[in-house]
Amino acid sequence: MGFLEGKTAEEKVLGGTVFPKVLHPSCTDESGTGFQVFSPEDFARVVESFKWDEMCYMGATTRVKVAHRVHTANEAPLHQLINFHHEMSLLKEFPSKIFFFCSVPSPEGGETSIVPSHIILEKMEERVPEFVRRLSETGCIFSFKTPKEEDSGAVVSKTWKTLLQTDDQVEAENRARAMIACDSVVFNQDGSAEFIFGPMNPIKELEGKRVWFRTILSYTGNERDVEVSFSDGSPFPVEATNAYKSILEENCVDLSWQKGDILLVDNLSVQHARRPGKPPRVILVSICK
Ligand SMILES: [Fe+2]
Repeated sequence: MGFLEGKTAEEKVLGGTVFPKVLHPSCTDESGTGFQVFSPEDFARVVESFKWDEMCYMGATTRVKVAHRVHTANEAPLHQLINFHHEMSLLKEFPSKIFFFCSVPSPEGGETSIVPSHIILEKMEERVPEFVRRLSETGCIFSFKTPKEEDSGAVVSKTWKTLLQTDDQVEAENRARAMIACDSVVFNQDGSAEFIFGPMNPIKELEGKRVWFRTILSYTGNERDVEVSFSDGSPFPVEATNAYKSILEENCVDLSWQKGDILLVDNLSVQHARRPGKPPRVILVSICK
């Protein structure tokens, strides 16, 4: 079976390129579904065919394994937004590719949204050049909180003990520095913890392309989940944060899922988000080194 280039209603022309590229099977079966990818095991075979090495997920959200190298994308309640991010971008090692697969579409909403990160950077340099210059020169401090107990109702669901697989605070901090690339951890009396990163530059050059790699927003849309400031502790100008939010919304493509769809995201150059949706939406994921 070959591929034919197709179109999706939501696609955009960004930086002179149609985004994203859409491929259909060159022949469809009687049901019209073409690729005949229905089960997690079918999806695993598609992923394996690319011959990229599997990467273990080390993030703070809950994923459930459903097949060889295939997990649920996120167990957080479907009504919650998962804001734009690069997968595992706060970790020392992050996947280069992410495969998503639609097992059950959302009856309403639940799109996966994608946006090229070099476009975010270009537009930020146009709209708030002074902010980008200061960020690049002095960096920012970013911190996020893990909950006091396992919280299946949250996007960041794991406690520091689960995330780092130890009950010992000294060992946890060692592991956090080694794996998560954070600069310090504050362990709170109530069991929660704050992981602090920086000063760091959220802009990175990856494979010759400058991209906005680390988010300056909350993962959930709830601003209290994270704290971001310049390295001297001064807050970001509201106009810069608003420009970042507007640029995401103006340049993203919301992809409505149909059962059997597969999305391959280049995690070095594209951010992704989950729009609020409704049960029984099931999107599966597989990440590659
Ligand atoms: Fe993600």
